[in-house]
Amino acid sequence: MKPKILVCDGMSSDIFNKLKNNENFDVYPEAKNSQEVVAKEAVEADALVIRSATKPNQEFLDKCKNLKYIIRAGEGTDNIDKVHCKEIGIKVSNTPGANNNSAAEHAISLMFTLLRKTAWANSSMQEGEWNKSMFSGNELTNKTVGIIGFGRIGQLVAKRLIGFDPEILFFDPYITSHSIGYDNITKVDKVEDIFKKSDIITVHVPLVAQTKNMITYDHFKLCSSNTIFVNAARGGIVNEEDLIKALKENLIRSAALDVFGNEPLKGKTDLHGVENLILTPHLGGSTAEAQFRVGEMAYHQLKEFFINDNLLNEVRV
Ligand code: MLT
Repeated sequence: MKPKILVCDGMSSDIFNKLKNNENFDVYPEAKNSQEVVAKEAVEADALVIRSATKPNQEFLDKCKNLKYIIRAGEGTDNIDKVHCKEIGIKVSNTPGANNNSAAEHAISLMFTLLRKTAWANSSMQEGEWNKSMFSGNELTNKTVGIIGFGRIGQLVAKRLIGFDPEILFFDPYITSHSIGYDNITKVDKVEDIFKKSDIITVHVPLVAQTKNMITYDHFKLCSSNTIFVNAARGGIVNEEDLIKALKENLIRSAALDVFGNEPLKGKTDLHGVENLILTPHLGGSTAEAQFRVGEMAYHQLKEFFINDNLLNEVRV
C-alpha cells in the first residue's frame, strides 16, 4: 500500500504536483486550510505536511491510527505535541533554514513599517486625508538594533541589516560566536540590556518553556519612549497584555506583531484597535520563494523516509 500523504495549511502547489507525479505516494487533494477537512483526512494519513495552522495535539494524534511521520514545513514545531508523538511512535521533522530569509525580511519590513509609519499613512490616505507632518518618521541607518535570539533567523536579520550601518546587540545564551563579517555586533549577557540600549528590538527565539512569557511589562519599562518593537517569531514569547499596557502608556513608541498567543487571531480582541500597534497574520514564511523551498525540502524528506528509510531533520523532544 502506498503511503497516504496529507499536505495542509496553504502549502505551495509544487509539492502537491511532485507528490501526485510520484507513483510511490498517494496524495490527498489540497485541504485548502480547512481544519475540519484536515482533522477528517488525517485519521487515515500516513504522513502530514503542516505549517502553523494544523495543531496535532494529543486528541488529534490519538485519532490518527496510521500516522508515522509529521513534517513541519517551516521552522517552529511548537504547534505539535512532540512528547505525545514520541510516546506513540510518530516521527517529527522540520525544514530548517528553508523559509528563514523570508522570516528575516518580514521582520525587517515591519521595522520599516514602524519607523516610517507607512501602515498608518495608508489608512489616513484611504480616509481622504493628506497628513504629511503626522507621518514623519525615522531612519534605520546608525540606529541600535537589539536582536533577542541569535540563531539562524536572528543572524540573518543582522546580516541583511548591515547595509544600514547599525549597531547590533544580541542576546542569546546559547550563541558564543558567529561568522557575520561585521564589527559592530555585541553580545549582551542580560536580555534587559537589549531593552535599555536598543532603538529597535526584534525577537527571534523559538517558543519553548524557557521563552514563554519571557518579555513582560518590566522589560518595556526599561525602554526609551522612542523604541520600536517587532515580534515575528512566536506568540507567547511576549506577554500580550503587558505589551498593550506598555503601548497605551507610551513606554515604547510602537510595535508590530506577526504572531500571537492564539492563532488565528480573528474578530475583535484586545490587540485590535491599539493605535500604535501593527498586526499581520503570521506572514513570516509566506512568500512564493520560501514556500517553494520548504515544499522541495519536505518532498525530499518524504521520499527519504518512505522510500529510503532515512529520517532527515528529526526534531526531538
Ligand atoms: C515557521 O515556524 O517556519 C513559521 O511559522 C513560518 C510558517 O510556516 O508560516
